[in-house]
Amino acid sequence: MAELHIHLEGTLEPELIMSLAQKNGISLPYTDLADLRSRYEFTDLQSFLDLFYANMIVLRTSQDFHDITMAYLARAHDSGVRHVELFFDPQAHVERGIGLTEVISGIREALREGEERWGISHKLIACFWRHAPALEALDLLKILVEQKHDIDGIGLDSSELGFPPELFQEVFEYAREHGLHVVAHAGEEGPAEYIWQALDLLKVQRVDHGIRCLDDEQLVQRLVAEQMPLTVCPLSNVRLRAVDTMAEHPLPLMLARGLNVSIHSDDPAYFGGYLDANVAALNEHFSFTTEQWAKLAANSFEAAFLDEQQRAGRLAEVASWQASQSA
Ligand code: ADE
Ligand code: ZN
Repeated sequence: MAELHIHLEGTLEPELIMSLAQKNGISLPYTDLADLRSRYEFTDLQSFLDLFYANMIVLRTSQDFHDITMAYLARAHDSGVRHVELFFDPQAHVERGIGLTEVISGIREALREGEERWGISHKLIACFWRHAPALEALDLLKILVEQKHDIDGIGLDSSELGFPPELFQEVFEYAREHGLHVVAHAGEEGPAEYIWQALDLLKVQRVDHGIRCLDDEQLVQRLVAEQMPLTVCPLSNVRLRAVDTMAEHPLPLMLARGLNVSIHSDDPAYFGGYLDANVAALNEHFSFTTEQWAKLAANSFEAAFLDEQQRAGRLAEVASWQASQSA
């Protein structure tokens, strides 16, 4: 599969938080690892984001960004990920005085090593915070573009309710004009209206989450007609209570409706696991057929920002996996 909805900072495992804090001489507000782990109970998106942002203070050097990226790629490889489009939150690091070059060079170096070692191809996507002013995002995007930082696209994340995509039209227009790919979180906790705005005003190429589309039949029909990719994150949805239980997750319905859905791990260190854990959780509750698994995998490669030759290669891998299952 291609992992298209994965936040680098969401792969920061508790053990790595403690060891990076020690290495970088940062004092954390936790007595020990068990105390940190006891805080991983979330009631909604914001309750998770508060811990997620607090823990990022341990990331300081280019080497730290390299090491966390390598740790993710090793897990992704074990989960069967063949291509990754990695999100990071530049504002989270710039506001702490970390240079963009430090952050991006560390991540990029690890992505190149990961491709050499495991054959995992990659893109890098800078996500802007919707809880911060759009002007701050625009200023930072201009710096990223003018200083030719090595990113492939932009996204939009963080607290959703009360921060509609329409606020970020100018940011997305600038990104598109400068040849960057554009994606946005929409319809995770927020209403279907935010998905309409992401499509019509931000002109996104993929919608991250998008599960709330099911509240709006006209929107579902449009998403199906356009085969707009929705990057769904099952464990995340349950842990952040966007969905009550895995058994009630709308993924089977979304597949049955013909939506272009694929599955991803979002923030695996916080939500109980990587792509393989998401697959296992789905397998526990739903009996997807080989065809349905192949469809989910093919959708992920169709939705990826691969060139056509790479895409054809990955789709051939899916087809041969499917053939091996019925042999
Ligand atoms: N940042 C990291 N994970 C996120 C999520 N699930 N929704 C919004 N912003 C995020
Ligand atoms: Zn996300």
